[in-house]
Amino acid sequence: MRTIAIANQKGGCGKTTTAINLSSCLVLQGQKVLLIDCDPQSHATMGLDVNFDHEKSMYHVMTPRPSEHLGIEDIVVPVKDHLDIAPSDIMLSAIEQELAGMEGRQNRLLQAIEPLEQEYDYMIVDCPPSIGHLCFNALRASKEAIIPIDMSLFSLRGIAELTDIIILLENRCDHVIEARALVTMYDYRTRYSRHVLEKVKEQFGDRVFETVIRYNIRLRETVDYGLPVGDYDKHAIGQKDYAKLAEEVISAEIVTTTPQANVSNGSHDILRKTEEYISSVSESPVPEEPTPEPEETFPYPAESSYSAMVEAISTDPGHFVSEDETE
Ligand SMILES: Nc1ncnc2c1ncn2[C@@H]1O[C@H](COP(=O)(O)OP(=O)(O)OP(=O)(O)O)[C@@H](O)[C@H]1O
Ligand SMILES: [Mg+2]
Repeated sequence: MRTIAIANQKGGCGKTTTAINLSSCLVLQGQKVLLIDCDPQSHATMGLDVNFDHEKSMYHVMTPRPSEHLGIEDIVVPVKDHLDIAPSDIMLSAIEQELAGMEGRQNRLLQAIEPLEQEYDYMIVDCPPSIGHLCFNALRASKEAIIPIDMSLFSLRGIAELTDIIILLENRCDHVIEARALVTMYDYRTRYSRHVLEKVKEQFGDRVFETVIRYNIRLRETVDYGLPVGDYDKHAIGQKDYAKLAEEVISAEIVTTTPQANVSNGSHDILRKTEEYISSVSESPVPEEPTPEPEETFPYPAESSYSAMVEAISTDPGHFVSEDETE
């Protein structure tokens, strides 16, 4: 069983969209998945339109109050075949205070998921946009982290702070996390995005997923329907990108089982590279181009991968193959 936290303290960078759609695509690729909503905003729970008993939520799993406490197995709700959710609601926000100063506060989720480890292939944990007890618990319970970045400097600063926590967990709790960044909401039509993508690729190398999640209006719409994008429009760009991410996650299994010493370097590496990256983009503004940008006429590239895009951008933009996008 693999547990993956989707974390970045920057709000709105695509954590919940990634948690929902990666979970759904892992299921489509034959995996059994539990999505754990660790955010009091409960967007993952709402985004899947889950009906649940509010007396049985992630609050009850995390609370130290004996009279309220429940096991995670008591609160899990089925979403569809092979996909379950541990739902949350606003009550979960009380946990930050309830856990303050409590011994073993960082291990509550880790201990909670133990009874279900044989039940699932993956647990995907959607984190809140802050670094507090909930995020810390999510990271402590996970061996891997996906850090969505929406190509903004705030998002990259989120990486730096999150990676600090990951290193702290390594040093203090001997808990090693394999962390990788995921570019989300990528808009290949803007010069800024293309410039930043090239820089990110240069800087992060293998600490970033090859899959890029392109900006796709369907991903926004499907939240209103309470569905993963693929259940609403299986041809949507967003579905293709998340399916590709799921493949990449599944194939990375071997990497996560490499000796700990190698994995451990990853977090230090990602932190150093983030810091170098932030100073490099701060120092080098987006170059001015004399010709106007063909914003509206640029077709989607067929492949959502770094190497394909970076190569196409630097050679011939006309190389992009148009796709039957129904938007
Ligand atoms: N690839 C994408 N293309 C277009 N819109 C997107 C994409 N990814 C996410 N969005 C939209 O951006 C908004 C923020 O996304 P999301 O809720 O996943 O971010 P988040 O990091 O979970 O936010 P928070 O920090 O508040 O939990 C949502 O309206 C979502 O539908
Ligand atoms: Mg969210």
